[in-house]
Amino acid sequence: MAVLISGRGSNLQSLIDAAKAPDYPAQIALVVSNKENAAGLDVARRAGIPARVIPHGNFESREAFDRAIDAALRDARIDLVAEAGFMRIHSDWFAKTWEGKALNIHPSLLPLFPGIRVHQQALDAGVTESGCTVHFIVAELDSGPTIAQAAVPVLPGDTAETLAARILVEEHKLYPAALKLVAEGKVKLENGRAVFA
Ligand code: GRF
Repeated sequence: MAVLISGRGSNLQSLIDAAKAPDYPAQIALVVSNKENAAGLDVARRAGIPARVIPHGNFESREAFDRAIDAALRDARIDLVAEAGFMRIHSDWFAKTWEGKALNIHPSLLPLFPGIRVHQQALDAGVTESGCTVHFIVAELDSGPTIAQAAVPVLPGDTAETLAARILVEEHKLYPAALKLVAEGKVKLENGRAVFA
C-alpha cells in the first residue's frame, strides 16, 4: 500500500507501527507528499520507506497532478492507497481509477463536518460527541461509504486543539484496523456502499 500525506504524519506513523505485526495484511511500500517540507516525510525516511514528493503546483490541473500520483503508485506496484492528512481534492478520474482501493481518514463523524476547521465546526454546532471516520474515497470531498468510525465526547471547556488531540488518539487505532479489513477483503465497495463480508 501507499500512504499519501501533506503534513505531520502521525497517522502514517500509526500505520507503520501496525504493519510491523507479522500478521498485518499490508506493507507500506511508498509514501507520497505534495509538500516537500511535510514532517511526515521524515517519518517515512526513519522507517526506511521510499518517499516521493510530487508538488501539486507543478501541474496545470487537478487531473494532471493525480495522473502523476497514479504513475508513482503504479511504479511501486501499489494495490491500496491510504490518505492521511493529504490536503488535495482529487479529480473524478482519480476517484474512479482507484475506486474501492483508496481510503481516507477524516476527524469527524461524517457526514457531519466535512472540509476544513473540522473541530471548530463541531464546537460551534454544540455537539456532545465527535470522532473520526475512515471511508472509501469518492469524487466528492469527505464523503464516500464509511468503513469504520470511533466516537469521543466533546467536553465542557474543549478547544479545537483539545478536541483534535482526543480524536487523534482514536484515529491512530481506527485507521490501522479499518485498513486491515480492506486489505483482507472483509469489506469492499460495491454499488456505492461498503459491504462487509
Ligand atoms: C488527521 O486529523 C486526519 O484525520 C486529517 O488530518 C490530520 C492529519 O494528521 N485528515 P497527521 O498528518 O496524520 O498527523
